[in-house]
Amino acid sequence: MKAHIFCVLPEMLTSPMESGVVARAVGAGALEVVVHDLHRLSPDAHHKVDDCPYGGGPGMVLRVDVMAHAIETVFGCEAGTLRRRMPVVLLTPQGERFDQEIARSLAIEESVVFICGRYEGVDERIREHIAGRELSIGDFVLSGGEIAAAVVLESVARLLPGVLGNDRSVEEESFAGPFLEYPQYTRPASFAGWEVPEVLLSGDHRRIRDWRRAQALERTRARRPDLLS
Ligand code: ADE
Repeated sequence: MKAHIFCVLPEMLTSPMESGVVARAVGAGALEVVVHDLHRLSPDAHHKVDDCPYGGGPGMVLRVDVMAHAIETVFGCEAGTLRRRMPVVLLTPQGERFDQEIARSLAIEESVVFICGRYEGVDERIREHIAGRELSIGDFVLSGGEIAAAVVLESVARLLPGVLGNDRSVEEESFAGPFLEYPQYTRPASFAGWEVPEVLLSGDHRRIRDWRRAQALERTRARRPDLLS
């Protein structure tokens, strides 16, 4: 997969794109990430990317001409046509709530474009004519979409073929199936009087499997009953 991220604070993405599973995906040749700095790509003589809102009000709005010019420079096509060729995702708190199913749907794409809004908003024409999809990572407001894009890309990168050594770890994780993950323990078996459940030390794989399934179900019922409905 090739991921293009258009943003105004590319330095926010340096560490997330160069560490952990994203770096591993890049190293494995499963992912290429290109971060595009909208200031550098701006056609404005002063490299401005935003302006005051029409009708007045506080804050600045990301300009549609800047966004369009950036896309046209990178892809050599009209900005409004790019979404016919690949997902063009605007990160915004107004978007569809991002989840594991959306991560899986993005992970099969050859290319994905992320547009990170910043400041108080983006010109509505970016939503209408350039983005094909809007995603939110939750009901809270970040100052910009960079961290949100990093969150989305991290969850997609780990689904790309060959990135995680053990594909079962993806399958067994929370949200891969209908249940949250069962509790995990490692050595020492006893610490400060805190014990590992006996069943996990029993070596009886059938009991262990049944215990884990029951725990996952119980945990899901207690914490996220919505997942069971
Ligand atoms: N930009 C600002 N807040 C956001 C959020 N919650 N999700 C995605 N993008 C955002």
